[in-house]
Amino acid sequence: MTVSIAMAGKGGTGKTSVACLIIRYLVRHGGAPVLAVDADPAANLGLGLGLEVGKTVGQVLAGFNENKLLIPPGLSKEASLSIRLNETIVESRCVDLITMGRGEGAGCYCFPNNVLKNFIDQLLPNYSHLVMDNEAGLEHLSRGTTECVDELILMSNHSIKGIRTVGTIISLVDELKLNVKRKWVILNQCPAVVDPLVAAEIDRLGIGVDAAIPEDRMVVEFDWHRRSLLEMPDDSPAVAAVNGLMRKIGSNRFTGEKA
Ligand SMILES: Nc1ncnc2c1ncn2[C@@H]1O[C@H](COP(=O)(O)OP(=O)(O)OP(=O)(O)O)[C@@H](O)[C@H]1O
Ligand SMILES: [Mg+2]
Repeated sequence: MTVSIAMAGKGGTGKTSVACLIIRYLVRHGGAPVLAVDADPAANLGLGLGLEVGKTVGQVLAGFNENKLLIPPGLSKEASLSIRLNETIVESRCVDLITMGRGEGAGCYCFPNNVLKNFIDQLLPNYSHLVMDNEAGLEHLSRGTTECVDELILMSNHSIKGIRTVGTIISLVDELKLNVKRKWVILNQCPAVVDPLVAAEIDRLGIGVDAAIPEDRMVVEFDWHRRSLLEMPDDSPAVAAVNGLMRKIGSNRFTGEKA
C-alpha cells in the first residue's frame, strides 16, 4: 500500500521546504519511488525538488473543457484526457512530480475531475509514497482532497498565528471526520528555547509538538540558488530534524531502523 503524507499549515511556515526534505529522507531510506503532488495553485514544489514543470493538470483540464484537446479517432474522451494528464508527470530517478496548478477557465469540472481522480488512483500503486504539498489555508481539507491521509504534517512557525492555525486544522479534521490516520505537529524555524508565550498557546490548545526544526541558513541559500533541497547535506540542522521526525513517523517502516 502506498503511504500518503500531506502537508498543512499557515502560509510561509515551511510546508514546501519540509515536503522536499521529507522526500529527501524517503529517497535515501528505502521509501522511493515517491509521487510528489503539488496541490498549491502557487506551485513551487518543482523548484524545491529541482524539477522543471511543464503543463499543469489545471491547464490540461481547462484545455479539455474548452474543447481544445485533440481527440484522435477511435479514442474515447476519457482516454485522450488520461494521455494528456500522463504528460503532466515530470519523471526523475526516484521522484515523479505532478503539478496541479490553478483551476483555469470556466465550465463544469465534474467530468475532468473524475478522470483526474481515476488517473491518480491508477498511478498510486506504482509508488511507495505519495507526498502532497498543499496550499495555505483550509480549503483543501474542506474540499476533501486531503481526505485519505496516513500522515498529516501540521506545520507552524514560532508564532501564535501559526499555532492557532494548527489548532484550527486539528478541529476541522475532526469535525469533517476526515480519514487522517495520524497527525504530526512541527514547529519550524524554532529557536533553541521556545518563547513562553508561544509555549503557553501550545499548552492552551492542548497541542503536542512532535518535532522542532531550527532556522537553517542552508535552506535559504538553496532557495536563492534554486538548488534542489534533495541535495541538502546530512549535516544541515533542518535535514537532521526532518530525519528525526521521519524516523519517528516511519519507525522501522522504511529502513528496518528503530525509531
Ligand atoms: N528551517 C528553515 N530555516 C530557514 N528558512 C526556512 C526554513 N524553512 C523554510 N524556510 C524558508 O521560509 C520560506 C517559506 O518556506 P516555504 O515556501 O517552504 O513555506 P510554505 O508553507 O510552503 O509557504 P506557502 O504557504 O507560501 O506555500 C522560504 O523562503 C524557505 O526557504
Ligand atoms: Mg508552499
